Amino acid sequence: VIISATINFSIHAADAAIDIKKGISESYQKFKGIKEGKNADYIPDLAKVNPSLFSIAIATVDGKIESIGDAETTFSIQSISKPLIYGLALKDNGEKLNIKVGLNATGQKFNSIQALESTQNHIQNPMVNAGAIQVTSFVKGKDSNEKWQKALNFVQQLAEGKSGEKKPYFGEAVYKSESSTNLRNKAISDLLNAYGMMGGDPLDALDRYTKACSIMITTKQLAMIGATLANQGTNPITKKNILQTEYVKDVVAEMSVNGLYETSGEWWVNVGVASKSGVGGGILAVIPNKMAIAVFSPPLDGAGNSVKAQEVIKYLSKNWKLHFL
Ligand code: DON
Repeated sequence: VIISATINFSIHAADAAIDIKKGISESYQKFKGIKEGKNADYIPDLAKVNPSLFSIAIATVDGKIESIGDAETTFSIQSISKPLIYGLALKDNGEKLNIKVGLNATGQKFNSIQALESTQNHIQNPMVNAGAIQVTSFVKGKDSNEKWQKALNFVQQLAEGKSGEKKPYFGEAVYKSESSTNLRNKAISDLLNAYGMMGGDPLDALDRYTKACSIMITTKQLAMIGATLANQGTNPITKKNILQTEYVKDVVAEMSVNGLYETSGEWWVNVGVASKSGVGGGILAVIPNKMAIAVFSPPLDGAGNSVKAQEVIKYLSKNWKLHFL
């Protein structure tokens, strides 16, 4: 009892120095003028998104939320769905899933065919396209529609705010746009299937993966998802346990190791917070037992990570000493 009282005290003492409103407003002003980066255009719908949209939201494990900028504007979650569907598949399969999908960095682009060919037994990790499509194939349900509804519902429960607030929803336009241009992901699914690595029909897994990437979300909802992960899987507002702590550990660890693809190592050294990016322009950072930071700005760097979002999280991590060490 005495030990836990001491730990709680020190956590709160450190948090007292964090002024969330001030931090988000400072970082918003500081980085809003950045012109570098380019919207993703290999998914035609993403090229059309206004590149000057910019928002930051922070949600804490005790249920507070602060935001600035276009924090109510929806955008497609893209690869930030990967750690979430990974959590759902762990719930369905347990940690034996990790042996099939792998946990290690590839050092290659998120949709690399070379990585699929050159890694031992073709195994990669749940944060790159191949691993995420594979993970999706292991989600259980009576048919494709039930498996997809289960995934959407899971994301909505992670994101759930106060009653009456809007939920993340399926973005049909982005889904159609990606479905008609995703030949590369189709090739990845075919190869995974050829190597006997899929838990079900490869085209169905690809379709549900593409649907999950098309989920439309606001920056505030994304921050709530992160706060649920930071709060060991229990949504801080609804108090419902959505994901067991033993699986939150895997999800957040994989975000740390592989969340920013080939630049994950630099990110972990320089910023030191578990994060996941998406080509829609979002980045979600999870600081266990404290808070989540969600940032949205569409222009990306060469690895597919939002330029402004990286700057904001790096700045806040440094100022608030969020680095894991
Ligand atoms: O499969 C794709 O290429 C996209 N739906 C997701 C890629 C992505 O978000 C990579 N992230 N930074």
